[in-house]
Amino acid sequence: MIGIFDSGLGGLTALKEIRRLFPEESLVYFGDTGRVPYGTRSVQTIGRYALQDMAFLTSFPIRAAVVACGTVSTTSLPLLKERFAIPIIGVVEGAVEAAVRESKTGHIAVIGTSATVASGAFAAAIRHRRPEANVTSIACPLFVPLVENGLTDPDDPIPTLIARRYLDPLLDTDADTLILGCTHYPLLHRVISRLYPHLTLINTGTEAARLLRATLPPCKEEQGDAVRYFVSDDVEGFSRSASLFLQTEVRGSVAKIDIAAY
Ligand code: DGL
Repeated sequence: MIGIFDSGLGGLTALKEIRRLFPEESLVYFGDTGRVPYGTRSVQTIGRYALQDMAFLTSFPIRAAVVACGTVSTTSLPLLKERFAIPIIGVVEGAVEAAVRESKTGHIAVIGTSATVASGAFAAAIRHRRPEANVTSIACPLFVPLVENGLTDPDDPIPTLIARRYLDPLLDTDADTLILGCTHYPLLHRVISRLYPHLTLINTGTEAARLLRATLPPCKEEQGDAVRYFVSDDVEGFSRSASLFLQTEVRGSVAKIDIAAY
């Protein structure tokens, strides 16, 4: 069993790929929908939330956890690794590896929540692998509420205008690769790629799943393909959005928990 958590829906981008790469594995997903967004909060608060999220996931017999949240991965991963003795994968490493491989110009742009950009974690990881790289980091705090509210259609002027406000400055640079440094952002993939077709978009959730596959052997015994979802707020809203995104009905497998009790 593998555990996955995020502040909300975004981690489903990782879950989707983990299901594909570990078809026999049971998965448990927690979306902290009652406390989303994380990315505008202090590092202390994000750390406290992340410890509770992991405490909940480890109440199941999970053999590894994926922190499918850019904000937690860039601010609190060492804290989680210190406290929990199972393998824990964040979203930075795999995405940076892919971006460094893909970029021809050596100019990599990173977008994320305010906390992620303030952490400097993506920029540091890029420079560690490619010291001469140019990195442009942009915080996009309105993207998470857009996704959580289902405003992701490329024909909708609202996400398009907001994306242009954040990302048009990249048109004056030679950046050719864009790390979607928040796991919610791939849900805006169509909006961003329509506006900036010259950019190679790196999906952090997908890359984290690939890294997990490269480091964790498949489970030995078939455990079925059951996925259980837990949220800390409205089950209905999450079920609807998750079913749409995963293109499968999840309603019966979503339950609400009291995360503050962990
Ligand atoms: N999916 C989370 C991330 O990757 C969203 C953060 C938030 O809740 O603000 O950063």
